[in-house]
Amino acid sequence: TSSLFVFSLLFWSESNPDDERSSCDRCDLRLSCNCSYDGFTRVPVVTDRALTLDLSFNNITMVTVDDLTGHRQLRALSLHGNRLAVIHLSAFDSLWSLEELDLSDNQLTALNHKWFSKLGALQKLNLLNNPYSCLGSPPVFQGLARLRTLAFGGPALEELKIGDLSGVTQLEELTVHANNLTRYESGALADIWPLGRVTLSLHNPFLTNVPLASDVLSDVSYPETPLILEDLHLIGKETVQPLYASARRRVRYITLRNVFVSDEAIVNFLVVFNGVPLTCFSVDSVTLTGEGRWTPANWTYHKSFDEFFIRNIVVLDVFHFVSFLNLGFLLQYPRKVSLINGKAYVMPCQTSGLLKNLQYLDLSDNLLTDMTLKETLCGGHSPLTDLRVLNISGNALKSLSMVRWLVVKLSKLTHLDLSRNGYSSMPLSCSWPHTLRYLNISRAKLTAITPCLPTTLEVLDLSNNDLKNFYLVLPALRELYLSGNKFLSLPSGELFPNLQTLKIQSNTLNMFNRSDLQLYRRLQNLQAGQNKFVCSCDFVPFLQSVIKGHGDVYLTDEEESYVCDSPLYLQGEPVGQVRLSVVECHRVLFVSVSCGVALFVAILVCILLWRLHAFWYLKMTWAWLKAKRSSRRHRGRGDSEALLSFDAFVSYSERDASWVENFLVPELEEPRPRPLTLCLHKRDFLPGQWIVDNIMSAMERSRRTVFVLSENFVQSDWCRYELDFSHFWLFDGHAGRDAAILILLEPLSKDDIPKRFYKLRKLMGSTTYLEWPQEEERTGEFWRSLRNALRGEEDDD
Ligand SMILES: *[C@@H]1O[C@H](CO)[C@@H](O)[C@H](O)[C@H]1NC(C)=O
Ligand SMILES: *[C@@H]1O[C@H](CO)[C@@H](O)[C@H](O)[C@H]1NC(C)=O
Ligand SMILES: *[C@@H]1O[C@H](CO)[C@@H](O)[C@H](O)[C@H]1NC(C)=O
Ligand SMILES: *[C@@H]1O[C@H](CO)[C@@H](O)[C@H](O)[C@H]1NC(C)=O
Ligand SMILES: *[C@@H]1O[C@H](CO)[C@@H](O)[C@H](O)[C@H]1NC(C)=O
Ligand SMILES: *[C@@H]1O[C@H](CO)[C@@H](O)[C@H](O)[C@H]1NC(C)=O
Ligand SMILES: *[C@@H]1O[C@H](CO)[C@@H](O)[C@H](O)[C@H]1NC(C)=O
Repeated sequence: TSSLFVFSLLFWSESNPDDERSSCDRCDLRLSCNCSYDGFTRVPVVTDRALTLDLSFNNITMVTVDDLTGHRQLRALSLHGNRLAVIHLSAFDSLWSLEELDLSDNQLTALNHKWFSKLGALQKLNLLNNPYSCLGSPPVFQGLARLRTLAFGGPALEELKIGDLSGVTQLEELTVHANNLTRYESGALADIWPLGRVTLSLHNPFLTNVPLASDVLSDVSYPETPLILEDLHLIGKETVQPLYASARRRVRYITLRNVFVSDEAIVNFLVVFNGVPLTCFSVDSVTLTGEGRWTPANWTYHKSFDEFFIRNIVVLDVFHFVSFLNLGFLLQYPRKVSLINGKAYVMPCQTSGLLKNLQYLDLSDNLLTDMTLKETLCGGHSPLTDLRVLNISGNALKSLSMVRWLVVKLSKLTHLDLSRNGYSSMPLSCSWPHTLRYLNISRAKLTAITPCLPTTLEVLDLSNNDLKNFYLVLPALRELYLSGNKFLSLPSGELFPNLQTLKIQSNTLNMFNRSDLQLYRRLQNLQAGQNKFVCSCDFVPFLQSVIKGHGDVYLTDEEESYVCDSPLYLQGEPVGQVRLSVVECHRVLFVSVSCGVALFVAILVCILLWRLHAFWYLKMTWAWLKAKRSSRRHRGRGDSEALLSFDAFVSYSERDASWVENFLVPELEEPRPRPLTLCLHKRDFLPGQWIVDNIMSAMERSRRTVFVLSENFVQSDWCRYELDFSHFWLFDGHAGRDAAILILLEPLSKDDIPKRFYKLRKLMGSTTYLEWPQEEERTGEFWRSLRNALRGEEDDD
C-alpha cells in the first residue's frame, strides 16, 4: 500500500500543476475579474465566486481539465487574443452558468463539439479568427439551445457544409468571416430563423466566386434582417452580381462596411436594387476609387429608399471628382440623410432643394463654416421645410447668431445639435423656431449664457464649456447637461420647475444640500460626481443618505466618483466611505460639554479639598516656608542667645485672654523672687508687621512657648500657626526639648482635638502638660509647677 501511496502522490503532483499557476485577484465588488494584459501563460487562479472573467490579451496557450473547475457561477469568460492552441475536451464542463464565451483571435486549428457539450446556458459564442478551416463534425453547436449570438470564421475558413450549424435555430446576431471561403453547400446557413443582424466578410467570393457569394447571401437574406457586408472590393459590374441574391429576397437594410467602390459599381448597385423596397442603405468606411462620373446612371426606381447613411468616406482622387449631382434623382426619397466625417465643406443649396422629403439631416464631423452653412441652408430660405433634426456637430462654425438666423424659418425643427463647434459667445437675444425642444451646444467655448436660449427647450446640453453660472428660467426643461464647466454651486432649482435630469459632473462644486435639491421640484436623476467636494459635517451625512436612496433624487452615476477634495486628510476618499467623528462634527457641543464637565469636576475637587481642609494646609505650608526663610535670616545674624529677651511666649486664643490677663500675667510677672518676662501678642507685637512675622520673632526671642489649650485654642487659626511654628522651632534643634509647655485650661483629651492638628496631638502625647485645676486650693500648686517648668530649664542651660 505504501508504494501505491507514493505513486498516487507522484501522480497527484504531476496531474495537478497548480503550483505553476499564478493567481489573479483583480476582481471588483461586482465579482467581475479583469485579468487582461497581464502576461499569463496559463489560466490563472481566480476566485470561484467570479461572475465574469476577462483573460484577454495574455499569452495563454492551453486550457487544461482543471483550470476552470469550480467556476460554477461564471457568466462570462473571455480568452480573446491569446495563443490558445489546446483546450481539454472537458475544460469547460463545470461552467454551468456560462452565458458568454469568447475564444476569438487564438490558434485553434480545429473545433471540438465536446468543449461546448455542457454549456447549456451559453448565449454568446465568439470563435472568430482562429485557423480552423471548417467547423468540423459532429456539429459543434449541437447542444447550444440558448445560443443567440454566434460569430465564427477567419482567414483559414474554407468550407461550410449543410449540417455544420445544426442545433443553431434562431439567432439575434450572426457574424461569419469567410473571406477565403471556397466551398459552400447551398443551404448551410439557411435553417436559422428568426435571424437578427447578419455580418458577412466575403472578400474573395465576391471577387472570384460569384455563385458561392450568391449562395451565401441568399441563405441569410430576409426583409427584416439587416445585412452588413464587410471587406468588399466592388470594382466592376461583375462584383456587384452576388447582390442580386439579396435583392431577390427583398432585403431592406444593407450596410457596406470597409469597402472600395468604383463609380461603375455604384451605378450597377442601383440597377441591382431597382424596384427593390430597400429602405436603409448605409456605408461605413468607404473609399471611392472613381471620379464621380455617373453618366450611365439611369433613373432607377427606389421609392422605399428612406434612410441614407454614409460615414468615413475617402475620395481617392478628390481633385478630379466631379459631383454627386447625377445621382440627384435619388435624393427625392429619403427622409433621413447622414453624411458624417466626409470632409464635406458645403452642401450646395441646389442639392438641398432636391431633398424634398428630408426630415433628418446629419452633417456632423465635416468642414462646414458659417459661410458654407449659409449656402447649405440657402441663406435662411431653406427648402428643407420638413426638417425636424439638424445635426451640424463637429464642424468649424463660430457664430450663433448666424445659425439661429439660418434655422429660424425651419418651422418644424425640434432638434438642433451644434456641439463641438467654435461658439464662444451668445447674442443677447435670439429668435428660434417655436418647435425647438432639443439644443446641444456642448464642447464649445461659451463663457456665459444669455436669454438667447429658447424657453421652449426640453433638453439642453451645455457640457464642456466655460460656464460659471446659470440664471435663466427654462420652464419646459426636462434634461440639463452642465458637466465639464466651472460651476461652484448647483444652479437654483427654481429656474427649472420641470427638470428631471441634471448632469453636472466634473465641475468645481464644493457641496450641495437638501434645501438646494428641494428647490428642484421634479428632479429624479442627478449626476454630480468628479467635483471638488468639501467633506464637511453637513455634506457627508447628507450625501450618504442620498446615495442610500433616501429622498426623491437618485444619484445615477457611480458612487465612487463622489470623492472628497478637502480637508486634506480626506482628499481622494470616496464620500460614501468617509466616517467623520463626533469631535469634528459637533465641535461647539463637544466644547461646551467638555467645559461643563471640567467645571463640574473642578467644583467637585474644590468641595473635596475644602472638606479635607486642603486650603488650610496650603496656607500653613506657605506660612511655614516663609517662617523658615526668615528664621534662617535671623540665625545668620549670629548668636541666638543674645536675642532671647523673654522667658516665654504665650500663645492663647483671644477668648481665653481674660484668663491670661487676669491670672497668668499677674502671677508670673509678679516679682517673687524674680519676675518672669512674658511675651504677649497683644502687648509685645510690633504694630505694622505681618502677624506671622511677629509670631515668628516673638517665638524666636522667647526661651519657651506656653500654649494655653482650650476649645477656643483649637478654634483659632493663629494659635495653630503658633503651635506649628513652635513645632518647627522645637525640631529645628534650635531650642531645647521642652521648649513648649502646654496648659490645659479645661479638660481636653487628645481625642477631642481634630485629626488634622496632628502636631498638637503628638505634642500632647510626648510632653507633660499642666492642667488648670478647677478647685481654688490647688492653683498654688499649679503656679509652682508652671514656674518650675519655665525656670527649670534655665538651670539646665
Ligand atoms: C479589462 O481591462 C481592459 C483594459 O485594461 C479593458 O479594455 C477591458 O474592457 C476590461 N474588461 C472588462 C470586462 O471590463
Ligand atoms: C507574449 O509573449 C511574447 C513572446 O513570447 C511577448 O513578446 C509578448 O509581449 C507577450 N505578451 C504579453 C501580453 O505578455
Ligand atoms: C485568406 O485571406 C487572407 C486575407 O484576408 C490572406 O492573407 C490569406 O493568404 C488567404 N488565404 C489563406 C489560405 O489563408
Ligand atoms: C440606361 O438606359 C439606357 C436606355 O434607356 C440603356 O441603353 C442603358 O443600358 C441603361 N444603362 C444601364 C446602366 O442600365
Ligand atoms: C449628432 O452627431 C453626433 C456625432 O455624430 C452624435 O454624437 C449626436 O448624437 C448627434 N446628435 C443627434 C441629435 O442625433
Ligand atoms: C451633445 O453632443 C455631444 C457631442 O456630440 C454628445 O456626446 C452628447 O451625447 C449630446 N448630448 C445629448 C444630450 O444628446
Ligand atoms: C445650502 O447651501 C446653500 C449654498 O449652496 C446655502 O445658501 C444654504 O444656506 C444651505 N442651506 C442649509 C440648510 O444649510
